Amino acid sequence: MGKVYVFDHPLIQHKTAMIRKTETTVKDFRELVKEIGMLMGFEALKDLPLKEVEIETPICKTKVNMLQGEDIALVPILRAGLGMVDGMLALVPNAKVGHVGLYRDPETHKPVEYYCKMPNDLDKRKIFVVDPMLATGGSAAAAIDFIKERGGKDIVFMCLIAAPEGIEVLQKEHPDVDIYIAAKDEKLNENAYIVPGLGDAGDRLYGTK
Ligand code: PRP
Ligand code: URA
Repeated sequence: MGKVYVFDHPLIQHKTAMIRKTETTVKDFRELVKEIGMLMGFEALKDLPLKEVEIETPICKTKVNMLQGEDIALVPILRAGLGMVDGMLALVPNAKVGHVGLYRDPETHKPVEYYCKMPNDLDKRKIFVVDPMLATGGSAAAAIDFIKERGGKDIVFMCLIAAPEGIEVLQKEHPDVDIYIAAKDEKLNENAYIVPGLGDAGDRLYGTK
């Protein structure tokens, strides 16, 4: 069963509280999502493997730890997942980025695919699927299906706000995938929106309705 990690760092908690507020502007919302993406990425990347290498400082030769390599892929679920990408790329600028386009059908709440383009060496990379919201879990589970069909094996899912229903679905459909979240909310409402949540993440990020 995939583990669920709630990142309770005070900065992540504070910024996540800010994006929930109705009065937070599109500009602030976008900046905060980027910042939270970076802060969560910082925590999520803490197990990256290091190797010892010898370097020379102006004083002497010395052995230091450096990253073994950045074999990472980021896969935002369009649209809202895009908001988390730049924050993570600030940490791992050489990561490759795949895109999955999915939207929820307003009637059925089931994900509908409209785009998928992945790096061709997914099987060799640690893959971070990012999306601010995990509601019914349908979009995340479908995105991870696409990634697995294209060879992806080492996958984690990172979101800002998750509903218990979505966590359960993702754990059931992809028990090998760990889930990183900033906040676990109460429930879904009758329109499958997260309560208390933040509303529609894509609309709030891009100012649409
Ligand atoms: C939102 C969100 C997730 C999905 C979560 O996207 O960004 O992708 O809903 O819901 P689920 O867990 O029930 O599938 P949406 O479909 O609204 O598309 P958008 O990002 O283009 O606005
Ligand atoms: N998608 C969103 O953007 N928000 C929700 O609360 C649920 C799905």
